[in-house]
Amino acid sequence: MTGVEVKVEGLTKSFGPANIWSDVTLTLPAGEVSVLLGPSGTGKSVFLKSLIGLLKPERGSIV
Ligand SMILES: Nc1ncnc2c1ncn2[C@@H]1O[C@H](COP(=O)(O)OP(=O)(O)OP(=O)(O)O)[C@@H](O)[C@H]1O
Ligand SMILES: [Mg+2]
Repeated sequence: MTGVEVKVEGLTKSFGPANIWSDVTLTLPAGEVSVLLGPSGTGKSVFLKSLIGLLKPERGSIV
């Protein structure tokens, strides 16, 4: 199987009073294409920036 699994556990990210992600837990399976869908401004980029380490979540882990 190619690719790596990504495990997100309890991801929580806010900007001041604006809570963007709250206690998100999911696994992106290795060897699959995963898609993140949602309206503008709902947190897709914040999620991906957290995934690659550009943003630091208040709580949670991404491995
Ligand atoms: N660095 C930041 N400081 C403060 N607020 C931010 C910051 N980055 C994102 N936000 C806010 O977080 C929310 C989610 O933004 P994000 O950019 O993740 O949306 P998106 O789903 O990627 O939208 P789009 O589809 O338009 O790209 C928005 O309300 C945005 O204003
Ligand atoms: Mg975006």
